[in-house]
Amino acid sequence: MTTGQQHNGLAPEADGLPVLGNIVDFRKDILDAMHQGWQEHGDLVRYRLGTVVVHGVSSPELAGEVLTDSGTYGKLGPDNPLRLILGEGLLTSDDHESWMRNRRMMQPIYSKQALSGMFHAMVESTADQLAHMERSYAPGAEVDMHGEMMRVTLDIVSRCMFSTDVSRTRDKLSPEAVDVAVNYAFDRLQNPFSPPTEWPTPRNRRFRQVMEGLDGMMYGLIEERRAAGAPEGGAKDLLDMLLAARDADTGEGMSDRELRDEIITTFAAGHETTAVTLTWAFYLISQHREVLIRAQEEVDRELGDRMPTMADLARMPYLLQIFEEALRMYPSAPIVPRLTLKDTVLGGHHVPKGSRVLVNLFNIHRHQRHWTDAEHFAPEHFAAVNKKGRHRFAHMPFGAGPHLCIGKHFALMEAHLLLATLIRRYDFRHIPSHRVVNHASITLRPKFGMHMTLHERRHAAPAAGIPAGAGAAAD
Ligand code: HEM
Repeated sequence: MTTGQQHNGLAPEADGLPVLGNIVDFRKDILDAMHQGWQEHGDLVRYRLGTVVVHGVSSPELAGEVLTDSGTYGKLGPDNPLRLILGEGLLTSDDHESWMRNRRMMQPIYSKQALSGMFHAMVESTADQLAHMERSYAPGAEVDMHGEMMRVTLDIVSRCMFSTDVSRTRDKLSPEAVDVAVNYAFDRLQNPFSPPTEWPTPRNRRFRQVMEGLDGMMYGLIEERRAAGAPEGGAKDLLDMLLAARDADTGEGMSDRELRDEIITTFAAGHETTAVTLTWAFYLISQHREVLIRAQEEVDRELGDRMPTMADLARMPYLLQIFEEALRMYPSAPIVPRLTLKDTVLGGHHVPKGSRVLVNLFNIHRHQRHWTDAEHFAPEHFAAVNKKGRHRFAHMPFGAGPHLCIGKHFALMEAHLLLATLIRRYDFRHIPSHRVVNHASITLRPKFGMHMTLHERRHAAPAAGIPAGAGAAAD
């Protein structure tokens, strides 16, 4: 719908403070503030962050309209704080032409077929992670699963991107460095009154230091790879594939700056999202013994004591249902932002040009019209028979429309693999005294980590080394 259509005036507005509007509530807990706004005012609610107008969208129908119409609802503009880290990679570019060119060049890199070449690297990381956990924790010891999942998913994306150069990237691309950068950008996203980036505050300085380290490493690796030329026998990793990607019309490849932006975007978009969902999945199954038992039966039946192959994953659908249900209850990218490029009408209300539109996946995934028992963890929601007839946007953890997550198959493959190997190996028990609170920064994290005890099961996996055949692609 665009300008000129009938509407009933502006969307209902959530209560807020004079001048500041809803800034304080958003900074305190954006999901809670938007949940309350949704319950009180409905699927489209107007908020104010100082002078910035924001519309919260909480139904699959309205979300579909927003995310599939990129002519009306564009990406945030140059003032998007995430640009300070990601530059103009796929996630943050607001230039439709250059986004489309790079998306077309990169699409084949993330196809299921290309990903099968990365499965072996994922299996190696997983085997290392099992060995690390065995070394680090005595049986029954307390483990922060969030920290462990961040560790292994960062290792997976690093190996897939840099293969043999991976050890050189570790300190610049440590979980701590990534954390400094992401928290900095998120804070600026929520608070229009943050001090200018060029002021010499300790936070600004720390951020610049992290980014200089990251950039130096990236540009160094890009230069070395360019100098070495295309590897014999084809691409070994994502970086080779990005270097080889060509625009179908002009035959041109990406500039160093474009490569740097796409690499950092892949890291930022591609590790924490999977890590937090895995963490929530382990928490949820620790609370539902019947789900854990069924998942254990599936892995025991299909794997015995082997590491999985891709063909094995296809025979373990219940594990994937668990992951999809975790993504429903705790979507790791809970809010998908857009900017209205012109005046428009949404849900019967006028939405002016220049408004931020926040598509709230957390609310959509619990929408009463589409989910009968939304607060209940039930992997059966994703059994084939129950998916039939559901609105296509009632579950959209990877977004929708032209910007649908390019890494969706990558994420599903690594999550499936990690769930299979860890569930086969351990029984998970959440420590009851540990507080579980969700906290939306850019991803939906457990605010205090996720403290559990792990108890080894009968079918122990080999701690290191990968048996012949593991990591082989499905035919
Ligand atoms: C559970 C894991 C993941 C979730 C929930 C997730 C979620 C999302 C969502 C909601 C979007 C849409 C953003 C928008 O429309 O503005 C998106 C885009 C994107 N994701 Fe993911 N993602 C995940 C994993 C990954 C992985 C593993 C990678 C890369 C290896 C990745 C790379 C990207 C990129 C590059 C985009 C931008 C696509 C574009 O605009 O063309 N994501 N993701």
